[in-house]
Amino acid sequence: MTKPQCCGIEQMFDDKTAQADLKEYLKKGPSKATRTLIEQVSAGGLAGLRLLDVGGGIGMIHHELLPRGLAAVTHVDASSAYLATARAESERRGHAEQVEFQFGDFVDLAPGLAPADIVTLDRVICCYDDMPALVRASAALARQRYAIVIPLDAGWIQTIGRIANFFLRVFTRNPYRLFIHPTAEIERLLAETGLQRSFYKRHGFWQVLVYQRA
Ligand SMILES: C[S@@+](CC[C@H](N)C(=O)[O-])C[C@H]1O[C@@H](n2cnc3c(N)ncnc32)[C@H](O)[C@@H]1O
Repeated sequence: MTKPQCCGIEQMFDDKTAQADLKEYLKKGPSKATRTLIEQVSAGGLAGLRLLDVGGGIGMIHHELLPRGLAAVTHVDASSAYLATARAESERRGHAEQVEFQFGDFVDLAPGLAPADIVTLDRVICCYDDMPALVRASAALARQRYAIVIPLDAGWIQTIGRIANFFLRVFTRNPYRLFIHPTAEIERLLAETGLQRSFYKRHGFWQVLVYQRA
């Protein structure tokens, strides 16, 4: 991967961070927003369904959904450390054979991926500069349900994002940047692909949005 943001993702989501995330997850379970997303995508039943988890991190969503009847998962991630951590945890839980792990930038890999019944992007859109490409490519692969967790796009959060990016640029020299993309623009792109919003909930500055194919 040569895009600056993807090189930044490799530095940002390294082995140390992945292990810390796994430790936190094993101790406390998923965050409130992730728990809400999990409940919502499970609502219509999961038996026989396939999940595409874009930017799945340490694999929390599939660790939770496979025991609930989900049939198979494709987990794409631009962080090799997160992917390795997710795979090791899947092996420990005995469901690694149901998960296909793919390393790389989802936007580049999308043309070669099969559609899935459920597509999830949990706190991923804010990690990627080309939001329209990420949203269009992921939505196009969603046969039934599409669920995302994104930050609120309020002015004060934009300011926090700008401050965080200033520190990243000046003190870490990491090309990774945070992006507070406009929620309305994300929704407009999803509507264009035929996805209609069926659920909304806020947890602090995180928004959980679920869409259904019309
Ligand atoms: C903040 S973490 C969230 C991880 C996980 N979804 C969670 O909620 O715990 C963002 C994840 O998205 C991944 N990511 C961001 N942009 C990506 C892209 N274009 N293709 C694949 N993975 C991406 C990063 O590598 C990272 O694992």
